[in-house]
Amino acid sequence: MKKKQKKKVLIFGAGGMLGKECKRQLSNSAMWYVIGLSERDIDITNYDSLFCAIKKIRPDVVINCAALINIDDCEKDPLRAWMVNAIGPGYIVRALKEAGRRRTVFVHISTSDVFGGRKPRWKEKNIPSPVNAYGWSKLYGEKNIEHEARGSGIRYYIIRTSWLYSEYRPTFIDLVISALRKKKQIPLVTDQRSVPTSARELAAEIEKILLNRNKPGIYHVINHSTGGVSKYQIGTEILRIMNASSHSSGRRFSRYYLTKSSKKDMFKVARPASPVLINTKLPQMRDWRSSLGEYIRRHVKS
Ligand SMILES: NC(=O)c1ccc[n+]([C@@H]2O[C@H](COP(=O)([O-])OP(=O)(O)OC[C@H]3O[C@@H](n4cnc5c(N)ncnc54)[C@H](OP(=O)(O)O)[C@@H]3O)[C@@H](O)[C@H]2O)c1
Repeated sequence: MKKKQKKKVLIFGAGGMLGKECKRQLSNSAMWYVIGLSERDIDITNYDSLFCAIKKIRPDVVINCAALINIDDCEKDPLRAWMVNAIGPGYIVRALKEAGRRRTVFVHISTSDVFGGRKPRWKEKNIPSPVNAYGWSKLYGEKNIEHEARGSGIRYYIIRTSWLYSEYRPTFIDLVISALRKKKQIPLVTDQRSVPTSARELAAEIEKILLNRNKPGIYHVINHSTGGVSKYQIGTEILRIMNASSHSSGRRFSRYYLTKSSKKDMFKVARPASPVLINTKLPQMRDWRSSLGEYIRRHVKS
């Protein structure tokens, strides 16, 4: 019997946190042959190099993890944010069409920050209303993909997610852990809620979407949470997990180092108050506390 050929997956932004998680996840399976390109290899705002890469590699799947994600940097340089987050994703779909890759599946990562209104939680079908340059640029990335893909036959998935963490890059979670261990106070915002999500588990969900051949469109992929949590609540949970994990050593971490703060005091650039995504289309991922507990136990030595 003829051996089944591996599907070729091309990842843009492969040097970033989620790009590395996707590369690890898919490289572990015999199904996929993974090619990861970082910004040093390819700039997604350069149409000609995108077209050449796609023409040469002939991928079956493209995953776009490339983005400018620093909210302050996006506000300072909205043109660059626009090029990377809005124009680049549309260029990828156009390059797929023009390189004759209409059967290639395209996965693009977007964000809960496309929502900025007063609703407490957001479904896939709700109308976005960003509050800053990052949110606007990501929203127009979604729109450009939809526009370029219309009528082309290209199956695309726009995956919105929130507050990612991973061992591949220190995030807010690691800052809290480090502050508690060094006995340093850390201010944590109480008036913004979202859902912390394991980038490792998100990469596994992306693979499931590819394998299940879900209907193309927008998906909300986050760890499970009923109403979202503030960074202060996440800090309290990190403290609980660290104290429970270090039970045998007798070491105790103190709540004293977690101090309450507000968006107004912490951020110069506007942040949405409640970018809490609800997943109404896919099976729920596990509870955020369970994933966070596993991350802390696996990566943080007490
Ligand atoms: N992190 C979060 O909490 C979060 C939450 C919700 C959604 N997301 C979304 O998830 C996706 C991945 O985020 P992440 O946390 O993995 O970000 P990340 O670690 O900053 O990775 C993004 C990567 O994109 C690369 N990049 C930037 N400009 C590029 C360009 N013009 N061409 C090619 N590559 C370029 C960056 O390279 P350099 O490092 O060399 O600049 C970086 O490696 C993004 O779409 C983001 O909007 C993230």
